[in-house]
Parts: sequence; structure tokens; C-alpha cells
Amino acid sequence: MNIELQWEISVPDGLTDVEALLERVAGACFSTEGIENAAFAVRITDDEGIRELNRTMRNIDSATDVLSFPTVQFPTGRTAKDCPKRLRREYDPYLGKVNLGDCVINLSRAMQQAEEYGHPLTRELAYLTAHSAFHLMGYDHMEEEEKKVMREMEEKALGSLGITRIDYDALFAKACEAMKNAYCPYSKFQVGACILAEDGRTFEGCNFENASYPAGICAERCAAGNAIVHGVRRFAAIAVVGSTAVAWPCGICRQVLREFSDESLPVIVGQFGKGYTVRTLGELLPEGLRPEDLGVTV
Ligand code: THU
Repeated sequence: MNIELQWEISVPDGLTDVEALLERVAGACFSTEGIENAAFAVRITDDEGIRELNRTMRNIDSATDVLSFPTVQFPTGRTAKDCPKRLRREYDPYLGKVNLGDCVINLSRAMQQAEEYGHPLTRELAYLTAHSAFHLMGYDHMEEEEKKVMREMEEKALGSLGITRIDYDALFAKACEAMKNAYCPYSKFQVGACILAEDGRTFEGCNFENASYPAGICAERCAAGNAIVHGVRRFAAIAVVGSTAVAWPCGICRQVLREFSDESLPVIVGQFGKGYTVRTLGELLPEGLRPEDLGVTV
């Protein structure tokens, strides 16, 4: 066992397999660091629980998302892999491992952040656990340079499990670029879109209108067609941008996206030069008709 999971609050309905996921996350962090026989405790609490801990242990009277309490101290600039002797000294024969300490996660904050980023709660819990695991192994993010190294380690560990961070800024920038090719002499409303496929490739699209108005196509469906013709069947995210207003996807586009993604699909929507917000497809299209409903698995 790489972790010992303790729920200090009741487990929310529908949240399953957290232990198995965090177990894999911790294992990936240890192998990315290059250490073995380590473990730590993951304690899941709420705003109040973490605030109390922050106050008593760190004299900071506020809630945060995750706190790490290392039991093994590594010299400045060194991490677990550089200190095999120290790890041997800390070996707990009863546990059969080195206990690196405690990772305390605030579930309320994790839920809030998952919603903000438009990704599932399990993904957010995986991030917070990986972040804490690297703290427990001696990493920090006070200086820019060490922050970069710590982030790289987190991404590498999570990436090895197929848990990747979606770069919303980069996807939105590609949608903005695609917007410039919009053909919209009738509405004069330029729209650009960019789909991130599950395999990491990106596919742009723009709206193109027609003298027979209903024959026009939206940017999202243009991007979808571009992805489909390149063999893509599963979408991981989409960014959509409008030139003079936020380009909320139309109903038909929402339904088209539902065919190739589940409800957790992050939809990054914005206006050119004015930033974006992130919604999930489920928020934009609740109860959408799914291919499964007609016995089809995509
Ligand atoms: N349009 C899109 O391409 N995507 C959206 O999300 C909203 C609307 C296009 C269709 C049409 O060419 C123009 O914007 C005005 O409706």
C-alpha cells in the first residue's frame, strides 16, 4: 500500500474508487522520483477541518485546498531520491515502508476547483495528492525555478497514468487563430473553435455561412468534422471564441459534441480579447441524447 486513506467527513454519494486512484497516483509519484518502499496518509476533510489545522499547525486562520505534513526532513535543495541513507534510517519495520507524512485534502475546495477547471472531482483529487506527495518528498514552490521542477514532476507522474492537464490558454489561443478564417459575410460574427482529441491532437474550425442561410455551418461542427476525418472519435475538450460576443455553442453543436464526449467535456467559451469561462458539456446540455441510448458505443 502506498497510501492510507482516512475520511474525516462522510464520503459523498457517487464518489467511488478514490482509494484505488490515489494509490496509483502515489505509486506514480514514487516511481517518478525513483524511490521505493514509501507511503503516506491521505486525510480527507472539509473547509472547517483544514482551517482548524492551518490555524493550529501553521498559525494561518484560513482554509486552503491541501496541506502537507512531512515526517522526513530533507536538506535544502535535496529530495527523497538524493537521500537513500536518510530513507533507510526512517524505515518503519512495522509498516514495511518509510512513512513520509500526511497529505490533508479539503474536499469542499477540491469540488469547487474541479468545477472551475471543468474537470471531474477525481482528477482534482489526483492533482492535489500528487502535489502533496512531492512536498512530502522534499519539493517546494517558493522560488520560480523550484516551482517549475515541482510542476514538471507532478505532470510527469500524472501523465504516466494518462491524467493530463488541459492547457485551456493554448486551446483558446488556437480557437482565436482559427476564428480569423471565418467566412461570415451575412452575420459578420466570426467564430473559431479548437477541439482537443483524447490522443492530444488538436483540430480547428471556423464558421462558414451560405447565401441560403440555413446551409451555413458553425465553427464547432467544422472543428468536429476536421477531427472526425482524421480518425478521432473521442474529444477531451473544446474551445470556442466569438469576435464580438461570447460564442455560446448552439443547441445543434452541443448535441454533436455529446456524440463524441461525455458530460464532463470542458467547453472553454469566450470572446476575442476578453478571456473565457469554462463549463462542462453536461451543464450546457443536460440530459442530451447519447449514442448509448441507441445501443452504440463510440
Ligand atoms: N456560430 C458559430 O459558429 N458557433 C457558435 O457557437 C454560435 C454561432 C455562427 C453561426 C453563424 O455563422 C454565426 O455564428 C451567427 O449565428
